[in-house]
Amino acid sequence: MTVDAVVDVIARSATEIRQGLVGRRGTVDAENPSGERQVEADVWADELLAERLLALGGVGEYASEERPTVEGDGDGLSVAVDPLDGSSNLESNNAMGTVFAVYDDPLPAPGTAIRAAGYVLYGPITTLMLAYGGSVTEYELSGGERTPVREGLTLPAKPVVYGFGGRVPDWPEEFRAYAREVESELKLRYGGAMVGDVNQVVSYGGIFAYPALDSRPEGKLRLLFEGAPIAHVIETAGGRSSDGSRSLLAVEPDSVHERTPVHVGNATLVDRLEAALD
Ligand code: AHG
Ligand code: MN
Ligand code: MN
Repeated sequence: MTVDAVVDVIARSATEIRQGLVGRRGTVDAENPSGERQVEADVWADELLAERLLALGGVGEYASEERPTVEGDGDGLSVAVDPLDGSSNLESNNAMGTVFAVYDDPLPAPGTAIRAAGYVLYGPITTLMLAYGGSVTEYELSGGERTPVREGLTLPAKPVVYGFGGRVPDWPEEFRAYAREVESELKLRYGGAMVGDVNQVVSYGGIFAYPALDSRPEGKLRLLFEGAPIAHVIETAGGRSSDGSRSLLAVEPDSVHERTPVHVGNATLVDRLEAALD
């Protein structure tokens, strides 16, 4: 089954990618299609995953945050990858990850077309969080093997942590007011890599957001490679996602590298966010 084969490639490659970060922490003299300076490890992880995923019979398309165009013969499922999420954390040796989603339809496609999605977290332990077949499973990865450690995972009902990206003065007033409320209720957990910050929300309950900014109303994160895959995981785990007014999975992208404001986590907190921005 192609989805299983895609997940196997990503899980088996994780230990190698983690090891391959050593010595690849510098920036290269190139930018990704979003106009951000690439780190050696971004390019290397992207090439490694593109080659292995496109070699799978059932994969027709490979799209990556690091590549301007979608690759492949178009015959089969479409895979969207953020090969290294939070690669700016390489310099400071903090957590980062690999984000992926398997879409039934050619890209760009809405998140409702996602068949499976998840993320690898390069933390003290390398883990894979996978949403597939209507449930979320966390695996510990070691030596190319994956061991399920949490199955049927759901977001904790009581929110504990929050993490909001961007700069406070750059937040629109409505978001700033909402953030002030949340700050008085929860604990701040922001590490600068979406995958690490989202895993805090999955583990402890709460909300992660990279909101629309006054300077950048479309936000920073990419819908196909970051917003929709994470929304699929969070919504499968019983939480909610929003671009500020609706589920990220309902957004119909016009382009592969389209950005979106991202808010994911406990349903009540996301409902309150949408009411605050309304
Ligand atoms: P990437 O390294 O794939 O470009 O992702 C970085 C993203 C995301 O991981 C994180 O939430 C956000 O950038 C952090 O942005 P700031 O540095 O503005 O906090
Ligand atoms: Mn990213
Ligand atoms: Mn990235």
